[in-house]
Amino acid sequence: MKNLLKRMEKLTDEMKDILIKYRRDIHQNPELSGMEEKTSAYVATVLKANDIEVVRNVGGYGVVGIINGKRGGKTIALRADMDALPLHDDKKKDYASKVSGAMHSCGHDVHTAVLLGVATVLSKMKEEYKGNVKLIFQPSEERPGGGAWDMIQKGVLENPTPSAIIALHVFPDLPSGEIGCKPGVITASTDGFAITIHGKSGHAARPHQTIDAILVASHVIETLQHIISRRIDPLHPAVITIGTISGGTAANIVADRVELTGTVRSLNPEIRGKLPQLMEQVIKGITEAMGGSYEFTFTQGNPSVVNDEEIASLIITSAKDILGDDKVVELEEPTMGGEDFSLFTEKIPGSFFRLGTSNPEKGIIHPLHHRLFDVDEDALLVGVKVMAWSVIRFLKEN
Ligand code: NI
Repeated sequence: MKNLLKRMEKLTDEMKDILIKYRRDIHQNPELSGMEEKTSAYVATVLKANDIEVVRNVGGYGVVGIINGKRGGKTIALRADMDALPLHDDKKKDYASKVSGAMHSCGHDVHTAVLLGVATVLSKMKEEYKGNVKLIFQPSEERPGGGAWDMIQKGVLENPTPSAIIALHVFPDLPSGEIGCKPGVITASTDGFAITIHGKSGHAARPHQTIDAILVASHVIETLQHIISRRIDPLHPAVITIGTISGGTAANIVADRVELTGTVRSLNPEIRGKLPQLMEQVIKGITEAMGGSYEFTFTQGNPSVVNDEEIASLIITSAKDILGDDKVVELEEPTMGGEDFSLFTEKIPGSFFRLGTSNPEKGIIHPLHHRLFDVDEDALLVGVKVMAWSVIRFLKEN
């Protein structure tokens, strides 16, 4: 196994420039969820150039590559998401986004480039292992009800069905050169909601003749936070955030309608199940007490990503082989971020890990979804090595 590890590392190190090129090409040409036409074509071209069998347009712009190792053995899947966010890139770098209003500020450019690197390395080493590697390049991760669901509906987890699946996400909370992983829950469930509050409009100077939807909304907003602080166990975190609010037409008119939308996160399925009812109690109680009425819709989004114990430990052990024990952080806590990778791990055992990407010395310090977000590109090599080595170990041991 030692020689195999050395060979994998050498093949990866030789790819450094091309990995940076992949990442920058994709970074400069970001495409929003559902519009990943050029990115998916780019991915398919690189895979084909490496003699990898490619199927395109799987659930939108999804791309699937298959590498066949020696006969027999299991199948392992690797997944990267490809979409960008609607945000302007403010970086003063020659590889900044060329598309106004679109930016890879969640690092999906890195995920795609890393998986292209892994694909190249594993296809060059396919005589060394038994079994198959399924490469899943997924569109629309950022869109609710997005790409993972679409690809699963189109059969991405069949023919062959993988025995395991691995994905990574860039993680500016860790420095470049480190990775983080943990068994069990690693991301939050993400649900959405919309509330409309109906009142009665009238003259702002005669409030007694009206029902002020804005005043009702302000009480609803405040009291929803009471659920978090007083109705659920403080040992089980949850978040309710109102992200948008709109209502009213003029300064001297009492508004008869306010619309609110927001997101709900939690880590515990039981709490997740209770939150819609607790929210409706608050909305109903307050609007009725103040003479108004309401509409409330709650939309179930992605469940938590739950890392399989064995696959998480495979990643941790593989990463330690490459980076040394002190660069592999066994994360204590999940984050309240969400991921539709959970739809894969609901079906097959899998694990998600976090790739450290920050580097204060290079000024790379900004969080995900920030207009100045960037990564230390040295992390590309780390991502490729940890993923490729996890696959080789898995296929050798199974
Ligand atoms: Ni992301």
